[in-house]
Amino acid sequence: MNASEFRRRGKEMVDYVADYLEGIEGRQVFPDVDPGYLRRLIPTTAPQEPETFEDIIKDVEKIIMPGVTHWHSPYFFAYFPTASSYPAMLADMLCGAIGCIGFSWAASPACTELETVMMDWLGKMLQLPEAFLAGEAGEGGGVIQGTASEATLVALLAARTKVTRRLQAASPELTQAAIMEKLVAYASDQAHSSVERAGLIGGVRLKAIPSDDKFAMQASALQEALERDKAAGLIPFFVVATLGTTSCCSFDNLLEVGPICHEEGLWLHVDAAYAGSAFICPEFRHLLNGVEFADSFNFNPHKWLLVNFDCSAMWVKKRTDLTGAFRLDPVYLRHSHQDSGLITDYRHWQLPLGRRFRSLKMWFVFRMYGVKGLQAYIRKHVQLSHAFEALVRQDTRFEICAEVTLGLVCFRLKASNKLNEALLESINSAKKIHLVPCSLRDQFVLRFAICSRTVELAHVQRAWEHIQEMAAKVLRAPGEGTAEIKN
Ligand SMILES: Cc1ncc(COP(=O)(O)O)c(C=O)c1O
Repeated sequence: MNASEFRRRGKEMVDYVADYLEGIEGRQVFPDVDPGYLRRLIPTTAPQEPETFEDIIKDVEKIIMPGVTHWHSPYFFAYFPTASSYPAMLADMLCGAIGCIGFSWAASPACTELETVMMDWLGKMLQLPEAFLAGEAGEGGGVIQGTASEATLVALLAARTKVTRRLQAASPELTQAAIMEKLVAYASDQAHSSVERAGLIGGVRLKAIPSDDKFAMQASALQEALERDKAAGLIPFFVVATLGTTSCCSFDNLLEVGPICHEEGLWLHVDAAYAGSAFICPEFRHLLNGVEFADSFNFNPHKWLLVNFDCSAMWVKKRTDLTGAFRLDPVYLRHSHQDSGLITDYRHWQLPLGRRFRSLKMWFVFRMYGVKGLQAYIRKHVQLSHAFEALVRQDTRFEICAEVTLGLVCFRLKASNKLNEALLESINSAKKIHLVPCSLRDQFVLRFAICSRTVELAHVQRAWEHIQEMAAKVLRAPGEGTAEIKN
């Protein structure tokens, strides 16, 4: 494909994308295919001779689209949102065109510098404490990771290195292995599975701290666990607090957990993967109070801030905690400015070496929406979730299972787990809307997350009518009966 064909095909592709997104409501939100469907539709090996663009595009509709779950359909209410906006898509095109691998400042100065400035912009939008910002001469700063899982892992590994060096400095005879087997990390029993995975990958044990009746980490239980573990000769070193848990969007109280971590010298990492975007609105910023006690903070603009995947924003108060933990300096990556103190080499902040020019997406989105546009977007989603909550509350067969703070509503029939499982099964097999469940204190709960950029009240109302119809069907089914409903 030469430049002139690229111009033509590029315009066609933009039309295809705009048509897809404009018409997405007409597509069934969840596909009909069975496992292995695709292998049967394509050749077993790559073509020897070149094929045409027309042929490929035809196959997109024939082979790919039938197997796509349409995350941007206004009838998609599963998981948490994944962001999508036209400015971010255009920036991604430019990112692909520049195609640099910005592992160091010299590898592409604009890639590095725009990222540092965008992370400061975003930090200011959230009113993060000054200590997290890079500024002209700050000790903190932000980095774009691929995912919240990577951010948690990087924080855990940096904390592990920090505590190991501190203990070895005090007792040089201690081996790394001897320290490692005693290290303990903590998170609430509501934390995302990626936290447990970080513990597994990092080779340290992770203890689950019980949550309270609002599904927030019990600070007193954390304190007790720390005392118990220290008395048993273990070494507490790392705590993950979650703002906006995956199951029900509950919030750990940083003003309670933070001082304990500070007192005990533990690294506090805050995972706000979904909820973090809401903190750009002053009315939700109080949920972030206490972040001043954290060593690292992370959320995903690629979930709810209109910046397409991947863009996970992570800040640290002391960037040398990261850069010092993972630093290796082979000759082929060195450059003349690396020790000037004026620049950042992001390869020291992350697991991979290579990195894309992801800050372009932030720059385009922040400028084209403005902070006000982004705030309006968040507020609209929160209003829609409260509208859904009100509909559920009007139907006495249902109950709300956790406080609705942002864009997620957890609800269920006042009935057995079996009946609620049957309800979800019937909703998802009808494929008009798509939901996923969660488990709260052994109860099977349905999650209704406001996801799509284009979702309106009418979609939410239609979804609720559909859920009510499915509920009526499930309740009428032989052997179930309304008798099971506890009013
Ligand atoms: C609270 C929380 N943390 C972490 C994650 C994992 O996010 P990622 O896919 O960016 O690793 C999620 C995903 O929804 C989440 O809700």
